[in-house]
Amino acid sequence: MSKLAINGGIPVRTEAWPQWPQWDGRERQGLMDVLESGVWGGFNEVVGKFEQAFGKRHQAKHCVTAANGSLSLEAALRVLDIGYGDEVIVPPYTFIATANAVRLVGATPVFVDIEADTYNLDATKIEEALSPKTKAIIPVHFGGLPADMDAIMALAQKHNLFVVEDAAHAHGSTWRGQPMGTIGHIGSFSLQASKNLTAGEGGLLLTNHDDLGRKLRSFVNQGRSLDGAWYEHDILGSNMRLSAWQAAILLAQLERFDDQLARRQQNARQLRSILEEIDGLQPMRWDERAENHSHHVFMMRYDPAGFNGLERDQFIEALKAEGVPCSGGYARPLYKQPPLSAEYSRIMPCPVSEQACHEVIYMSQNLLLAEPEQMDDIAQAIVKVRENIGELK
Ligand SMILES: Cc1ncc(COP(=O)(O)O)c(C=O)c1O
Repeated sequence: MSKLAINGGIPVRTEAWPQWPQWDGRERQGLMDVLESGVWGGFNEVVGKFEQAFGKRHQAKHCVTAANGSLSLEAALRVLDIGYGDEVIVPPYTFIATANAVRLVGATPVFVDIEADTYNLDATKIEEALSPKTKAIIPVHFGGLPADMDAIMALAQKHNLFVVEDAAHAHGSTWRGQPMGTIGHIGSFSLQASKNLTAGEGGLLLTNHDDLGRKLRSFVNQGRSLDGAWYEHDILGSNMRLSAWQAAILLAQLERFDDQLARRQQNARQLRSILEEIDGLQPMRWDERAENHSHHVFMMRYDPAGFNGLERDQFIEALKAEGVPCSGGYARPLYKQPPLSAEYSRIMPCPVSEQACHEVIYMSQNLLLAEPEQMDDIAQAIVKVRENIGELK
């Protein structure tokens, strides 16, 4: 077989992967409509239209948009009255925003380990981390794969805890037929540039609890009274409003959303069947209770033993050179980041999270928007690296 691309050989793939984000005349028209309306902020009716459409698509009674998925998490914790003296269970293997939100409202993140085969919060490890101060659990549906909501909701009920789903990656994912973000008390989404539904920046909250829905709507809009006069403010709040520009883009993006979700799932299935034939690369377990999985990230665990001892990062570089973009994800668990260290958090033993930082390989969602036969390029690149491993060692 030919020389590896990293050593000057010809790459398996030179064609570009599907770009992200995707847009056409619909986004352009939506933006022009906002421009010409003169109502550019969060009070344009297009914001409400997007909230209705997303809420309906996710079977939620209340959908409240926010400026981004970090502030939406903070809003969720604030309306649940979580703050100083409270503890919140979070995984240490997630984007920092999940745990920062806890600190930013004045509470303490308690880090509990993840499952080795899903990288989601390990529900069997939660109970031993509880204290009289524990108020809530934030499961993250990492990469779009739902956390075990049966186990987490049962624990929450037993111990009288709130559940805030961090569904930043999980647009369209479902658990026993129910869309993510609607199973816990509140679900929080990100609409940032890399996400499966995006306006460049943005966030939103779902809930099926009327009281929480009302509080959230008021909170993101300066605590305004929902029924009173303009300058009546019932609760403490802030301005977390999404702009009309973002909502116009999101409404157009939503039209493509279901086709894209289906395509990603079809390609992910194909990629999984390819990987079954390859020792040393194990995709994450796709729980059968999760009928839909957004695949915001396609993740697999790399075992050097399957690649003659080749280190993961060397493998990643070789695969990238062959034309398959991929990365190793987070370099360390969140409690090893200064703002979330032991001084500011409580840390349960997290060996799986430590291991995840060394073993995982990520491929981003836009690869899964390619034509299904193009998944073969990924297989060919992997096989080529394996067959020429001697060049790398
Ligand atoms: C799991 C998770 N939670 C929260 C966020 C924060 O979202 P945003 O970037 O919209 O503030 C992100 C963003 O990447 C995320 O990955």
